[in-house]
Amino acid sequence: EDAAFLAAFQARIDAEEKIEPKDAMPEGYRRTLVRQIGQHAHSEIVGMLPEGNWITRAPSLRRKAALLAKVQDEGGHGLYLYSAAETLGVSREQMTEELLSGKAKYSSIFNYPTLSWADIGIIGWLVDGAAIMNQIPLCRCSFGPYARAMIRVCKEESFHQRQGYEIVMTLMRGTEAQKAMAQDALDRWWWPALMMFGPHDSESAHSEQSMAWKIKRFSNDALRQKFIDATVPQAEFLGLKVPDPDMVWDAGLNDGQGGYRHGPIDWDEFWRVVKGGGVMNRDRIRARRKAWEDGAWVREAARAHALKRAARKVA
Ligand code: 3HC
Repeated sequence: EDAAFLAAFQARIDAEEKIEPKDAMPEGYRRTLVRQIGQHAHSEIVGMLPEGNWITRAPSLRRKAALLAKVQDEGGHGLYLYSAAETLGVSREQMTEELLSGKAKYSSIFNYPTLSWADIGIIGWLVDGAAIMNQIPLCRCSFGPYARAMIRVCKEESFHQRQGYEIVMTLMRGTEAQKAMAQDALDRWWWPALMMFGPHDSESAHSEQSMAWKIKRFSNDALRQKFIDATVPQAEFLGLKVPDPDMVWDAGLNDGQGGYRHGPIDWDEFWRVVKGGGVMNRDRIRARRKAWEDGAWVREAARAHALKRAARKVA
């Protein structure tokens, strides 16, 4: 790609124009979007598994209905995002093969086990809370189909976050055992939730280019900080203790608005989980492989039907 083409493309980005699938775009821009949107879609689909584990164990019909709706939403988000990625010339089969082979990533957070009902509340509150922080800016992503998909996704994430927060609030107004269950879940999910935002900016391979192309609007650390500053007061209101002994209020942060300084994140754990060494990685991929193989007959039937219809049209 010559310099003039790249400069003209960057001028469109700088003018806040939306790039559409049929527009001329640098190969790197297309590749970054296929990578990010594909991995985002994988995260939504794999993310159905931890919570799916509790649909049959929900404590009431109301909780079961809300959790069922949430898990179904996540499936829909995944299909939305796979469709957005397909506009860039990659196929569903290709993306699925990359997930199953380990070539494509999905969010590390979904490789942790859901050990109690409180996990379902904490996930809704923290994981979907973190997802909202990350996905609101994506509504202004320079690539049209991704930005438009995010608008509906964010509306549904807000419901996910509220139902999770309400579960935790109910537990914290319950018995000592319920309070202990909620605190235990927060202890296990707090740090993995911070890792959802990705490596520190200094370690982020893609941030600089993704921000220049207005795919990423805020850096990993900036969004992580926003999440921490919004969530710590909620934990305090709930009567929960964030498991970070180094957490301290710093009045000078955020241009004098103040904010919480957090302790060191265990990046060894992060990379171990990202590279497949988490507690649930094998289970998640095994479940996705089984779903893909069990669904082969549907794909074959749909293909056969499409061929028959095409043949009828020609005849
Ligand atoms: N888990 C797994 N891999 C991660 C990760 C995480 N939490 N954070 C970063 N990575 C990977 C990146 O994918 C990249 O690897 P790659 O080159 O093989 O793709 C590498 O670590 C370096 O990270 P960078 O910061 O350089 O990468 P990005 O610029 O892509 O930033 C990101 C990472 C912020 C996650 C960005 O990709 C993004 O915003 N993605 C879209 C949102 C998304 O995927 N969220 C995941 C959760 S979905 C969800 O929560 C659904 C909700 O309903 C529960």
